Order: sequence, then C-alpha cells, then structure tokens
Amino acid sequence: MHFKSPLTATLLVASHMASLTFACSPSTFSTRDNNTTGPPITWGSDTPSDPATLGYFSNHFSINVKNLTATLDFYSRVFGLRHIFTVQASEHLSIAYMGHSHGGRNGTGYQTTAELNRDKNNAAGLVEMIYLDIPDKSHLEASSVRTNTFGHIGVIVPDVEAAQARLEAMPDVRILKHVGGPTESGGEVAMANGFPPEAWAQISAEERATIETVLSAINERFIYVADPDGNLIEVQPQD
Ligand SMILES: *[C@@H]1O[C@H](CO)[C@@H](O)[C@H](O)[C@H]1NC(C)=O
Ligand SMILES: *[C@@H]1O[C@H](CO)[C@@H](O)[C@H](O)[C@H]1NC(C)=O
Ligand SMILES: *[C@@H]1O[C@H](CO)[C@@H](O)[C@H](O)[C@H]1NC(C)=O
Ligand SMILES: *[C@@H]1O[C@H](CO)[C@@H](O)[C@H](O)[C@H]1NC(C)=O
Repeated sequence: MHFKSPLTATLLVASHMASLTFACSPSTFSTRDNNTTGPPITWGSDTPSDPATLGYFSNHFSINVKNLTATLDFYSRVFGLRHIFTVQASEHLSIAYMGHSHGGRNGTGYQTTAELNRDKNNAAGLVEMIYLDIPDKSHLEASSVRTNTFGHIGVIVPDVEAAQARLEAMPDVRILKHVGGPTESGGEVAMANGFPPEAWAQISAEERATIETVLSAINERFIYVADPDGNLIEVQPQD
C-alpha cells in the first residue's frame, strides 16, 4: 500500500496493529518468505473492505494538550509539521490542526498555509490539538506517565541516524530511547505502550523477559521521544 505521508502509514500501522503492542514493521521479522526465525506473524486477509467504505481514509489523530503554544512549537520545530490553523472556539477552548506538506509545485514539498488548509480533507497524517485553557489540567495524563488507551504517534524518517543527531542537538527534546538502545520494560516507553507495573504483575517474569527481548529487537533502530506533555513519538527509519 502506498500512503500519502509517512505519518499516515505509521498511524495506520499503529491502529491496525494495536493488539501487537508496539507498532512494528513486519519486515523486521518477516515470515512472508517463510523465514520463521522471528515471532509468528498473522498477516491480514486479502478480503476487500465493504465497498460502502470506499473513499474512507484516516485523516487525523487528535491529542488533548496542556499548553498549545508549547505543543505547536514542538511538533513544528522538531518534526516539521506546519501549523494550518487554530480555531478559538470559545474563551477557553482552542482547536488547532497541523500537518506535513505533501505537495509543492517545485519539488520542495512546500505548500502555503492556504494550500494546506484547502487540501485538509484530502490530506493524511494530520494532528489535531485540543486545548482547554483552564488552571487545573491535572485530568490530562500523558501515556508515558500513566498507561492509557493512547500509545504513541509514529513518524517515518528517511535517515534515522541523521534524525537522531538532529534531535540530540535540541536540548529541550527528551529522547527516551536511542537507536541501538534497549526497550526497558520498566521505562517510559514501556509505560506508554501498555506496560505499567500492574500489567507486568499479571504475567510471569519469564514472559516479561521474552517481551523485553522481542521489543528491544523490534525497536532496535527506532527512536522514542516525548512531546511536551510526555506523549510518545516513535521515530522509525524508512527502510
Ligand atoms: C510460505 O509457506 C506457505 C505454507 O506452506 C505457502 O503457502 C507460501 O506460498 C509460502 N510463501 C513463500 C513466499 O514461499
Ligand atoms: C531470516 O531472518 C533472519 C532475521 O531477519 C536473518 O538473519 C536470516 O538471514 C534470514 N534467513 C533467510 C534464509 O532468509
Ligand atoms: C506554555 O509554553 C510556552 C512555550 O514553551 C511558555 O512560554 C509558557 O510559559 C507556557 N505556559 C504555561 C502556562 O506554562
Ligand atoms: C518553491 O516554492 C515556494 C512557494 O512558492 C517558494 O517559497 C520557494 O522559494 C520555492 N523554492 C525553490 C527552490 O524554487
């Protein structure tokens, strides 16, 4: 399948593979060529979707944010998403949209904000930010702080080592896992991806070790960073 944007592809992977815990690239442990050295994979069926859903596609992902200024700055500066608009819905409620440029007339991928907005409902991989500007935001808890049903956002980059060097040069960006680093079963990455201590307590130490080994292998070349609220962004290499 060819997706319009890397973010879409990973969002789709994330949603379709929710039951596989960490979004992973099947090619990492491919059994498509009957190479069974990795964990077993069940591939999706080739059964077509209900024709009534033709034209449906995953357009955006929404996060509830604690500080809209900080979040817009982060996703723009760190991941290159463009701010398309913010709607001031009421005195305290703002709703913003960001997305990567897909088009551009001269090969640079550049689009004006007006073009991005015109294309909004044909675009994929957008991120919506909902911001309620109230003093007590303690009801908002990021996935790396406390496991919830949101895991992470996935981004594809053409060169993961170059992306890591760029992230490392940004002192305010919290890198939770580097390329080649382990996926620690007690860390924030595990927390965000569904493994708080009370989940580990329900499986054996042996299986926990297996999971740690398997996820460390799957995530080997991935980077994980935290957004300003502590939500996880998984950075995967294009290959
Ligand atoms: C893998 O094995 C299955 C079951 O034996 C077979 O149907 C399939 O064609 C094989 N795939 C490849 C790529 O060899
Ligand atoms: C099977 O996959 C493993 C892990 O990716 C790889 O090291 C090995 O070379 C593969 N074997 C074959 C026969 O393709
Ligand atoms: C929100 O984030 C901005 C940019 O990081 C910062 O200047 C501002 O102080 C923050 N606001 C609050 C209420 O923390
Ligand atoms: C590409 O187009 C954009 C928008 O018109 C313009 O700002 C930019 O300078 C152009 N870049 C090149 C390399 O021509």
